[in-house]
Amino acid sequence: MVSHEQIKSEIEQLRQRLNYHNHKYYVENSPEISDFDFDAMMRRLQDLEAEHPEFYDSTSPSVRVGSDITSEFESVRHRYPMLSLSNTYSLDELREFVARVEKEVQGAEFVCELKFDGTAISLTYEHGRLLRAVTRGDGEQGDDVTANVRTIRSVPLRLSGDDYPDYFEIRGEIFMPYASFDRLNAEREAAGEALLANPRNAAAGTLKQQQSSVVAKRGLDCTLYQMAGDALPYKSHWENLTLARKWGFKVSDAMRICRTFDEVAEYIAYWDTARKSLPFPTDGVVIKVNEFAQRRLLGFTAKSPRWAVAYKFKAEQALTRLESVDFQVGRTGAITPVANLSPVLLAGTTVRRATLHNAEQIAALDIRIGDMVYVEKGGEIIPKITEVELSERQPDSEPFKYIECCPECGTPLVRYEGEAKHYCPNAASCRPQILGRIIHFIRRKALNIDGLGAETVELLFESGLIANIADLYDLKAVDLATLPRLGEKSADNIISSIVASRSVPFHRVLFGLGIRFVGETTAKYLASHFRTIDAVMSASREELMESEEVGDKIADAIVEYFASEENLAIVERLRRAGLQFEAEQKEQHSSLLEGKNVVISGKFLDHTRDELKEMIEAHGGRNQSGVSANTDFIVAGENMGPAKLQKAQKLGVKILSEQEFVALLGNIAEDEALEHKEPTATKSEEVPTEPEEVKATKEPSVVQGSLF
Ligand code: IVH
Repeated sequence: MVSHEQIKSEIEQLRQRLNYHNHKYYVENSPEISDFDFDAMMRRLQDLEAEHPEFYDSTSPSVRVGSDITSEFESVRHRYPMLSLSNTYSLDELREFVARVEKEVQGAEFVCELKFDGTAISLTYEHGRLLRAVTRGDGEQGDDVTANVRTIRSVPLRLSGDDYPDYFEIRGEIFMPYASFDRLNAEREAAGEALLANPRNAAAGTLKQQQSSVVAKRGLDCTLYQMAGDALPYKSHWENLTLARKWGFKVSDAMRICRTFDEVAEYIAYWDTARKSLPFPTDGVVIKVNEFAQRRLLGFTAKSPRWAVAYKFKAEQALTRLESVDFQVGRTGAITPVANLSPVLLAGTTVRRATLHNAEQIAALDIRIGDMVYVEKGGEIIPKITEVELSERQPDSEPFKYIECCPECGTPLVRYEGEAKHYCPNAASCRPQILGRIIHFIRRKALNIDGLGAETVELLFESGLIANIADLYDLKAVDLATLPRLGEKSADNIISSIVASRSVPFHRVLFGLGIRFVGETTAKYLASHFRTIDAVMSASREELMESEEVGDKIADAIVEYFASEENLAIVERLRRAGLQFEAEQKEQHSSLLEGKNVVISGKFLDHTRDELKEMIEAHGGRNQSGVSANTDFIVAGENMGPAKLQKAQKLGVKILSEQEFVALLGNIAEDEALEHKEPTATKSEEVPTEPEEVKATKEPSVVQGSLF
């Protein structure tokens, strides 16, 4: 019999060994064992932990696989505010920075570091164990994303050695290496999902995922560049970070001490080129005064330290020839001109195409076929043309003539008022529009028909099996199995994911219809407000626009969509196929908050934010995400965001504590005063302005008397 003690000791040993190999692999990039052996060890640990939940530990390496539990992020106040840096693109300004520092302090040393292009994070360690990970947020308070950060393999869950402070914070950047970014976008493309613009957005978006198991698969990384604490081991930045590296943190090797402006400029010149071969994105260099005593002398401005500055690299440019222009037709008929370029190397990849946006942009830049043009990678996936090199223009070049008819179906193009793009109005029979609508419909965020991909949709369309989204529901496995490249198994997969899509909730079906400008959020709003497709279909433009979620552009698009006989016929066929055209009935306790817009903000003692949201909806109210002029009241917990508070004050919106809100739901029946708001001016004077005083909103004194 294996004793309890023996199991405990085996678990502890496995954890230590896995932590060691994790660090070797993800921090030092020098693995000592094979992936196979690592996985076997991890499986053994997971099995033992599952059998012995009494040995659960939040810092066990097994937590790195994440969990499927959906979690909301709590707002946490930073013990030390997370400031940003002042930026410059100019070496002259940087020279001034160095000169100012040298004038104010004697013998300054500068630590130069790469500026990692991701999203800032603050990690708190207590007794060498990761306690909390919080995003920057507004600098004063951020979101607690600990569960997600635990899945990032390079973040130590337990520290090595014994010379770390009992309690300290270390800050850095969570970023997505190019390899992870490319893999993620390839997966999204295959699933027909919108591509992520750049690794920075991808990192920030991933960190806010509600399921840590999703984060675990995305390949994020984390580098640390600043320690904060009341009792740091050393009195300089360099020494502290060097020590932090020994505790197991990933601290960049690119860090250097420079003593003069020329040395700083040399560092910048080196990395401006060398960064192009780094496997992760950087967008500049950060220059920091090393000694804390000198930092104290230099102090802070309102937003940033006077002892540090960020020098940003200019976006890379390349000069190449414009060979030709193609015109792409999107699912809504929007025409996008795309430049075909002579292949040229730019920021690590070969560029062959660039977006030209629309006719006006081509005219504004006077771009002509055969011109030498500058291409630049901005925040977007596809590079853009920024300028024409006129000195190299051929004398016989001619101004560019924009197309007048759809390149796919020949229909004359139209331009809608206020829109820069041209459109092909032939929604019914223009091939890329039809395919685009079907591909949009099967997307994960819409009907999630994951057996199908863009290629199969094309195949089905070409073979005449589908011509619109409703045809999907008439498909039979036998028809599919006869298609080239589709085996029996994939045919069955397709059919079963089509069948499963019948239970996809109404708001996603509405989104899947592909009505112009109706994104996920608008679809959610329409579904919860109107409840049924019939109500959405019969709503007037004015009724649609009752909420600020729907502006005139969206309302017009909805009205136009349902005015088409063809669309109505498709909706009817989908209805007959059994799709959800009605929002699920939520338990409705009363209509006491009918028509009321309520914002939830801060951290609560007795309820989760989801519970509060459900309470609002169960009484007929609507949970709004941001404060606006039509907000009726805010349910505020501890640490309500300062931005929300300021806006609430300005607009004179009521603030209720959690207890008051609960009491309100109990008493509201008698309180008919709900209909009239108090004058706003007096209210705004009562609401405290200092963030520290926000807690006072929990005291009834702030919202005394009649609540509305
Ligand atoms: S130091 C008070 N060092 O750039 C200074 N920041 O606007 C705190 N960043 O929010 C930041 N690399 O997200 C520092 N080596 C580096 C950095 C870095 C990237 C980001 C960070 C910060 C922003 C500055």
